[in-house]
Amino acid sequence: MSLGLKRIHHVELVVGNAKQAAFFYRNAFGFDQIAYRGPETGTPDRVSYVLRQNDIWMILTTPLRHDDPLNIWLTLHGDGVRDIAFEVEDTAGIYASSTAAGAKGYHEPRAWGDDLGTVQTASIRTYGEVLHTFIQRDGYRGFLPGFEIREIKGRGAGLQCIDHIVGNVSDQQMDRWVKWYDDTLGLGKFVSYDDHDICTDYTALRSTVVASDDRVIKFPINEPADGLKKSQIQEYIDANLTPGVQHMALSSDDILESIATLRANGVEFLAVPAGYYDTVWDRVGEVREDRERIKDLGILVDHDDKGYLLQLFTRPLQDRPTLFIEIIQRRGSDSFGKGNFKALFVTIEQEQGLRGNL
Ligand SMILES: [Fe+2]
Repeated sequence: MSLGLKRIHHVELVVGNAKQAAFFYRNAFGFDQIAYRGPETGTPDRVSYVLRQNDIWMILTTPLRHDDPLNIWLTLHGDGVRDIAFEVEDTAGIYASSTAAGAKGYHEPRAWGDDLGTVQTASIRTYGEVLHTFIQRDGYRGFLPGFEIREIKGRGAGLQCIDHIVGNVSDQQMDRWVKWYDDTLGLGKFVSYDDHDICTDYTALRSTVVASDDRVIKFPINEPADGLKKSQIQEYIDANLTPGVQHMALSSDDILESIATLRANGVEFLAVPAGYYDTVWDRVGEVREDRERIKDLGILVDHDDKGYLLQLFTRPLQDRPTLFIEIIQRRGSDSFGKGNFKALFVTIEQEQGLRGNL
């Protein structure tokens, strides 16, 4: 039973330069800037920009003072996801139940507000140095207290909502975190893939997906598996120094248009291995979209017994090989592109090799 988690309220990234990161996500991914918090709005030591595209909300935060602990976070991990925040019905209740079930508290429940109302929030720690904040909005009329509306319209890229967010954890820790999500937040096991599903001749990973009962919240958890060479999950952990968020998958209702827009904006995607389209249609069968356009745009296709999906992965969004974004459109399929993992690993291994991390 998912314990009163309504939806992902926002994802907060800590970044070295929030002003420039906001420019990047607006101009590359089409986000609108909605709100701002910083010295001018009563928060002297940090700046945060709120970006939105349909139901996807992100906060980009940068510390301003040298002694802010967020600088240590940045030194360790580089730019990345620090908080996956949920909207909940009862912050105090879910904080009490999750910590009683073994979650480590980070912020105790508190009420805070401004002239637009009051919210109740609390935070717990999950894998690595990532947090889950609970937000009980109580009809609050803005984004969150302390933010001032500062709108800059983005051009959009047809991205609709967060389909799933993937965590990379250390070797042999996946089952522990799957149990943790069930115990503390009631996110049950949805599907799992072992290292025979997701491997090449050289590198491998295991993955289990936990999800809310209504499947609105889906969190795959990956761990590295032994192969002849270093798993991409281990490369991530070496670069991030701890477990952390590997990718966010953002859904589109028209992935062909979305990818065309993102490519025109300069977003870099993983290259599709040569020969991929020679065999993919035998594997996947009929699709509604134009096959030639799918190939021209370099989009990946996969299927399961319920339907098919289209997906594509960006290259890492910062210089460390850590966080990236997936664009996904589901046509009935509720899986995660297992059939593409093997094809893509060849590309990922080539990029790992160029970085000297194989
Ligand atoms: Fe994914």
